[in-house]
Amino acid sequence: MNGRMIVPNVFSVGAVDWNRRLFDALIPLPDGTSYNSYLIQGSEKTALIDTVDPAKWKILQAHLEGLERLDYLIAHHGEQDHSGSIPRVLEKFPAAQVIASPKGQEILAEHLDIRADRIRPVQDGEEISLGDKTLRFLHIPWVHWPETMGTYLLEDQILFPCDLFGSHFATSELFAEPGRVHYPAKRYYAEIMMPFRLQVLKNLEKIQPLPLRYIAPSHGPIWDQPSFIQDAYRRWAGAPPKNLVVLPWVSMHGSTEAMVDFLTQALIQRGVQVEPFDLTVADLGALAMSLVDAATVVVGTCTVLGGPHPLAANAAFLLNALRPKLKFVSVIGSFGWASKAVENLAAMLTAIKPEILSPVYVKGLPRPADYQKLEELAETIAGKHSQIELT
Ligand code: FEO
Repeated sequence: MNGRMIVPNVFSVGAVDWNRRLFDALIPLPDGTSYNSYLIQGSEKTALIDTVDPAKWKILQAHLEGLERLDYLIAHHGEQDHSGSIPRVLEKFPAAQVIASPKGQEILAEHLDIRADRIRPVQDGEEISLGDKTLRFLHIPWVHWPETMGTYLLEDQILFPCDLFGSHFATSELFAEPGRVHYPAKRYYAEIMMPFRLQVLKNLEKIQPLPLRYIAPSHGPIWDQPSFIQDAYRRWAGAPPKNLVVLPWVSMHGSTEAMVDFLTQALIQRGVQVEPFDLTVADLGALAMSLVDAATVVVGTCTVLGGPHPLAANAAFLLNALRPKLKFVSVIGSFGWASKAVENLAAMLTAIKPEILSPVYVKGLPRPADYQKLEELAETIAGKHSQIELT
């Protein structure tokens, strides 16, 4: 057995994926990722928590070399980056019993063709003994699928929280250096956990009473200062937004760009922070990360075939899907002869309920009267921000 020891008889046996650059065919991974798997050897029984993406099976296989017996394979989550190598582990250890939440049992059977009778569903709070080590299972749904579950190792005070508290960050370090991992962890929260932030807050409350020495998530390094990531999650998911406008924009012939530049300066002059993103080159992960704190989003778009530019529509789709805690939305931009862009973008925001501030949408080049309207929009945003609770 070739894993890295966290505490005596508890080992990290997963795989670092240094070169992966896209996750779920959607999420950019500038820093790679890891698929964490943990082996716990009790005095009587042995358990493996999660497996690895099938592309990295050989690494897990090598880490398990020489292990004679596996009693339990705990599957926290049905997504294939963790569950994809379960069939191979079961081939190697045919007597191992798979442990999952009841919903997990369903999902593993559906997605991986694992026979349901090989899976033992466990209830929230149920415990199993490995001899001198005890595992308590915690149902922590919607981080970020409905079946997600965590495990608490009582004697060593280690929480294995599945995808919660993770980071897409390939590193040779076993433990997180907070200053270094804060950025990828926040980015990961934005891309994966933010749509479920209310459920995340409930799960944070649920684990709050547990004495913790380590949090060992399913991606990225282990937190040996657990309060750092717990406090960060409380801020990201629960604190009021900041005095910040996020401004994703796209411009074909310069009119929308001129408006974006003007509004950016008008906001800065009023003491409002602005983060503009040129959508033709923007890193969507960085955009998602900005949405964690934004009180307002202003989408800047030109017009294509009577509607918003597809890149602006994509940004609005992401905004709606990620469900950040923002309060206000507006649209600025330009059209050639006719446009339904504002109506189309507003209609896309079905999952969030921001106050829509008057758009500034102009025909052709912006004129002095249009710049005056942008001044007014900046004034409105600054005024709105002054009336709400901000961090
Ligand atoms: Fe890391 Fe949801 O899988």
